[in-house]
Amino acid sequence: MQLPDTLLSQVAELAREAGRFLLSCRDGISIAEKGGAHNLVTQADLDCENLLCERLAEILPHSQFLREEGGATGDHSSLAMWIIDPLDGTNNYVHGIPQFCVSIGLACAGELELGVVYDPNRDELFTAQRGCGAFLNGNPIQVSERPNLQNSVIATGFYYDRGDLVKRTLAAIGRLFDEPIRGIRRFGSAALDLCWVACGRYDGYFEYRLGAWDYAAGAVIVREAGGQCCDREGQPLVVHSGNVIASSPQIHVDLVRVVRW
Ligand code: IPD
Ligand code: CA
Ligand code: CA
Repeated sequence: MQLPDTLLSQVAELAREAGRFLLSCRDGISIAEKGGAHNLVTQADLDCENLLCERLAEILPHSQFLREEGGATGDHSSLAMWIIDPLDGTNNYVHGIPQFCVSIGLACAGELELGVVYDPNRDELFTAQRGCGAFLNGNPIQVSERPNLQNSVIATGFYYDRGDLVKRTLAAIGRLFDEPIRGIRRFGSAALDLCWVACGRYDGYFEYRLGAWDYAAGAVIVREAGGQCCDREGQPLVVHSGNVIASSPQIHVDLVRVVRW
């Protein structure tokens, strides 16, 4: 599918606007639980998602949507499908922790094509389009050059489920410390975790259960920054993988060996 030349810049501008919107309504937010006490949704998630969908439908008419809050309007093979997390890091947002973002991915016929992630707290805009490189505020970025797992910093996340997934994640962290890595981080926004791999702040990241909206945009950005992404079994990452292992190419085989499911 031929995408308009101005698409990336239009989506980037929209992500900035949505991020500013999130900052503007932090005070007095109404909070609800969805599917468990730890999985929250705020009015800001819902309003921001509506804003994004209205505008993206104007930017690219006839496109479909896969939205965290509103569900899907098409399937994974749609010609053009926006994959949206209007607020990634809702728990942080609710607790006043400045680590959350707007994440907008685009898949064309099932292929991840474009990713835009905006961190309004740092005014950091991550952008990438397949084959065109990855950028932070317009400057090219690349993944870490560390040659192996030793002294690496690896990020992870815990899904809201507190059973088997937590045990498996903690076991993988234990195995990573045997390597020996320098540290583990869990900052609470999967989309930003991927962007921080893309710009070399983290050497790698893994998480065992995610929605496509958590990683669609970030995966494009990691790949375009020279990194690699796969699922928790080491298979190529696709829109519906539902989990992710991402890193620089140098440590990818080792990271997958240690954390694969
Ligand atoms: C969550 C964040 C978190 C990750 C969870 C996600 P949300 O997204 O990305 O870092 O560990 O698995 O669900 O609920 O804040 O949009
Ligand atoms: Ca999310
Ligand atoms: Ca979200």
